[in-house]
Amino acid sequence: MDYFTYQNGTMYCEDTSLEQIASEIGTPFYVYSAKSFTDSFNTFSNAFEGRERIICFAVKSCPNIGILSLLASLGAGADIVSGGELDRALKAGINPQKIVFAGVGKTRQEIHEALEAGILMFNAESEQELDVLNDEARKLGKRAKIAIRVNPNVDPKTHPYISTGLKKNKFGISVETVREQFRYAAGLDSLDVEGVHCHIGSQLTDVSPFADAAKIMVSLIKDLRADGINIKYLDMGGGLGITYKDETVPKHEDYAKAILDAVGDLDITLIFEPGRNLSGNAGVLVTRVLYTKDSGTKHFKVVDAAMNDLARPSLYDAYHGIKPVYETENRITCDVVGPICETGDFLARDRDIADVPVDGLYAVLSAGAYGMSMASNYNSRPRAAEVLVSGGKYYIIRRRETYADLTGPESVPAFLRNR
Ligand code: LLP
Repeated sequence: MDYFTYQNGTMYCEDTSLEQIASEIGTPFYVYSAKSFTDSFNTFSNAFEGRERIICFAVKSCPNIGILSLLASLGAGADIVSGGELDRALKAGINPQKIVFAGVGKTRQEIHEALEAGILMFNAESEQELDVLNDEARKLGKRAKIAIRVNPNVDPKTHPYISTGLKKNKFGISVETVREQFRYAAGLDSLDVEGVHCHIGSQLTDVSPFADAAKIMVSLIKDLRADGINIKYLDMGGGLGITYKDETVPKHEDYAKAILDAVGDLDITLIFEPGRNLSGNAGVLVTRVLYTKDSGTKHFKVVDAAMNDLARPSLYDAYHGIKPVYETENRITCDVVGPICETGDFLARDRDIADVPVDGLYAVLSAGAYGMSMASNYNSRPRAAEVLVSGGKYYIIRRRETYADLTGPESVPAFLRNR
């Protein structure tokens, strides 16, 4: 179901007009549909009906605390990768007992904070990390619950930058040697070894790599139990894709079936870490046309959102649909570019889109995941506002940054003051 639809020729998010938001708060801004998050979370979770499960939203995909509290209200947990994400997840009211912490480079400080918070589990990625986890837990007089991230060497067939489960990637411990690492971890005095984890990549549009990975994990769990290590959690990571253009994405039931067929009647609590699948199509980026340019061979629409607001097109050559906020019959083939001083600053290239005039608005679609979360202040551009719509109402969940926000943390050194 689409939560961004036209009513009388103008685009709405649920029952709120994007034009109204733009005129009240200015552009660019990200706008998210609460109903979209709610419906996708519920369908994701319901696909595993009857099984013990924890759905840990991948915070990195859309970390605003307004969004996280919406997900917390639905019963979601969080997949975090830093102390900053732990802080937001807790502020948003996510139950620490539903928080899992992944990442190849957790610092002692971050581990300390997560132990203090009492999170469900650390997804450890190396032998050295196991030692540090053990050490920090001992210092606090606590026990650290851990899973080991396994690299199952499965090809997710996605963009090389976001494929993570191959031997050549930096993540996890190779499936061939991981059993030894589990035994090692089980021998450490302050660790409780309770889970196996994998995450093979992002934006997967085929269920077979998930099924392959799940089979490998299940056979590992059986081996580990035979070794006397009582694994209670199977964390299958995230990665289920969305439709950006014309990709056919597996239905939640088919994704669930692929995994559940592999799990069979194994007594285990399942953990999932979906990010994009819940947030991607829940948000769009609204931007205004500043200028149009014609180079003789090419047309440009210069808009007020740029690669600092949405990095994915420049970074991955990613496709994001672009639709007019007011419907029009006029079409144009053009580049949609931002104001940043780089040729790589584009949202679309050679794209046939609706021809919106200067001062008109475009919605850049499927921008809810890895949009705002990867935004920067490059070219000293204040980051965009974020808005959450629920029915006919909208709420500013992040105000637009000001110039003071940009220079606030900076200072002129003493030797240059009072010049
Ligand atoms: N769990 C782990 C351990 C992860 O590393 C990730 C994503 C996820 C879960 C969530 O994956 P998802 O369900 O969203 O596919 N910036 C890139 C995506 C990077 C994904 C990194 N890891 C992009 O814009 O496409």
